[in-house]
Amino acid sequence: MFLDKLNWRYATKKMDPTKPVAEDKVAQIVEAIRMAPTSSGVQPFELLVIRNKALREKIRPVSWDQAQITDGSHLLVFAAWDNYTAERIDAVVEQLVEERGPSEMLQGYYDNLKAMYLPRAAEVNYAHAARQAYIALGFALAAAAELEVDSTPMEGFDPEQVDEILGLKEKGLRSVVLLPLGYRAEEGDWLLPMKKVRKSKAALVTEID
Ligand SMILES: Cc1cc2nc3c(=O)[nH]c(=O)nc-3n(C[C@H](O)[C@H](O)[C@H](O)COP(=O)(O)O)c2cc1C
Repeated sequence: MFLDKLNWRYATKKMDPTKPVAEDKVAQIVEAIRMAPTSSGVQPFELLVIRNKALREKIRPVSWDQAQITDGSHLLVFAAWDNYTAERIDAVVEQLVEERGPSEMLQGYYDNLKAMYLPRAAEVNYAHAARQAYIALGFALAAAAELEVDSTPMEGFDPEQVDEILGLKEKGLRSVVLLPLGYRAEEGDWLLPMKKVRKSKAALVTEID
C-alpha cells in the first residue's frame, strides 16, 4: 500500500555506491516530476539529471560534503526560473494553443497573469517558481518511495556555488533543492534503525465539520 511505502522511505544518510538505480526507475521518477501540477500550469523550473561522477564530486564539497551525492547513482537538481518574463509565459500559452487550440479565455487568463507577475521583483517571482519546484520534489519523493528507490531531499548546499558549477545563471535558472537517488547502505546509516517521528494527527489537523 502507498502509505506503507511512505513509511518505508526516509532521508537516507548513507547510500551503497555499488548499487545504481536502474534507468527505467529513474525515468519513472522523472515522469512523476514532469506530471506534477504547478500554478497556472507554468512549470517554471527545469530538472537536471546528473549521472556524471566527476560533476557530482564537484557538487559534494559545496553541499556540506553530503556523501549521498557521490554514493548515489543519480543526482536530481531542481532549478527554478530566476524570474517570470513575457517570453517564458508566452511559450506556455503557445504550447496550450498548439495542443488545445486557440481560445480567447486562455489568452485573457495569461495576459492577466503577466500583468500580475511581470511588475514584481525578480526575487518574489523566483520564490514563487521555487515553490512550484517543491511540489515536483514531493512527487519525486513519493514516486521514488513507490518504486522502493532511496532518496534524500537536500537544501543543505550553497545554491550560488551549485549554480556556478552547473552554469545555471546563464540559463536564467537557480538551484532550489537536490535529490540524490540510490539504495540505502546496509550498514553505517545512523538513521536507518530509528523510528519515524511525525506530529500526531491531533497536532497537525483541525477538523471543521
Ligand atoms: C526540503 C528539504 C530539505 C532537506 N535537506 C536535507 C539535507 O540537506 N540533508 C539531509 O540529510 N536531509 C535533509 N532533509 C531531510 C529531512 O531532515 C527529513 O525529511 C525529515 O527529518 C523527515 O525525516 P524522513 O524524511 O527520514 O522521514 C531535507 C528534507 C526536505 C523536505
